[in-house]
Amino acid sequence: MNILILGSGGREHAFAWKLSQSKKLGKLFIAPGNAGTANFGTNVAISVTDFDGIKKFVLENAVNMVIVGPEDPLVKGIYDFFIADVQLKNIPVIGPQKAGAQLEGSKDFSKKFMIRHNIPTARYETFTKDTLADGLKFLETLEAPYVLKADGLAAGKGVIIPNTLEEAKIELTEMLANAKFGVASAKVVIEEFLKGIELSVFVLTDGNSYKILPSAKDYKRIGEGDTGLNTGGMGAISPVPFADDAFIKKVEERVIIPTINGLKKEGIVYKGFIFIGLMNNNGNPQVIEYNVRMGDPETEVVIPRIKSDLLDLFEGVGNGNLHEKTFEVDNRFATTVMLVAGGYPEEYEKGNIITGLELVDGSLAFHAGTKQDGKDIVTNGGRVIAITSFGTTMKEALKKSFTNAEHIQYKNKYYRKDIGKDLEVYFR
Ligand code: AMP
Ligand code: GLY
Repeated sequence: MNILILGSGGREHAFAWKLSQSKKLGKLFIAPGNAGTANFGTNVAISVTDFDGIKKFVLENAVNMVIVGPEDPLVKGIYDFFIADVQLKNIPVIGPQKAGAQLEGSKDFSKKFMIRHNIPTARYETFTKDTLADGLKFLETLEAPYVLKADGLAAGKGVIIPNTLEEAKIELTEMLANAKFGVASAKVVIEEFLKGIELSVFVLTDGNSYKILPSAKDYKRIGEGDTGLNTGGMGAISPVPFADDAFIKKVEERVIIPTINGLKKEGIVYKGFIFIGLMNNNGNPQVIEYNVRMGDPETEVVIPRIKSDLLDLFEGVGNGNLHEKTFEVDNRFATTVMLVAGGYPEEYEKGNIITGLELVDGSLAFHAGTKQDGKDIVTNGGRVIAITSFGTTMKEALKKSFTNAEHIQYKNKYYRKDIGKDLEVYFR
């Protein structure tokens, strides 16, 4: 099978690495890809949202399946674009249709969906510019801290958690009256603050049956000890030690099954990944959010732990016979540490030469933001390289990731040295 992966990050590099191990793989293309994905296939200079460009490429290159990495093309309806086109309609797209992508594309839709299907989540209300006064009153009924979410996609920046009522009122006004996040904050979800420990559970579904993929915990803040600005993710650990079988069983019964049945009941075609962001509140899962794709850098620890042929699983998703596919997981720990550009997530430099990649030993270096520049590989994003390692213990895996993190060099390299530290208590 000839495959096209859409995206250019560590997630897509991990997909490309894994798919390249499949006997079923013919040609592999990645649009637009990065210097790492180029080792496993052909990078193609097409934007992930250029549907006409993608169509032309797919037809000219006999692509048999499209795997969508990021949310943007899904929310913009790439699945529906393929289904509506006579030449494309039999080529599976791994990802939900536009209506399903609203689980990530609209916080309001996603909250309403959870309420309709009795899926545990924080109490909430949604407000617009016209109901700002009601929103300010609603804030007064809640306790600090306050959770304000721009309804639409805001590049991961749309959630604000003010500690005081005064700040919360200012932020709400900024979002609704002054369009702080543009159209994304035309609606704002205000919700109760959930207490507990966060983790993510990933599901691959063909719309009927599903496979529960390994769980993961990511590290969102730029600074050690979970301080500073939010990032796309600075590292990840899988499995999550406190997500034992009993907890995952609760997630399956209370969240996964009602989600898949809910989608079916509403006539929404969903063939792809569901990323469930959860709070573990004293052993009880509550949904923080859905994403309609794999996480990055969670993919860099989840996918390497899948022992089964990923392309075979994707074929099951496309054909609707995922239930017939075997699914095996590696019991070892996987850890990833993200090397980023100094300054990220604010302003940072691109184009700095990366050296030492050949010194990486015993780990996988997934490129997140790199490109080939003549004979050099240079930085090309805020997040640069994710270093994934296996270990029979988390500690052993982390040690390899940190050792190899030192071998890679570029100007202003930064990474968090405390990835996994908060989980050590579970191993004592
Ligand atoms: P989201 O974009 O919905 O994942 O929100 C970003 C982050 O904000 C989450 O990963 C949580 O750390 C935090 N968060 C979102 N909603 C809540 C909530 N209701 N209670 C506590 N923390 C939250
Ligand atoms: N690492 C979080 C995300 O991919 O959304």
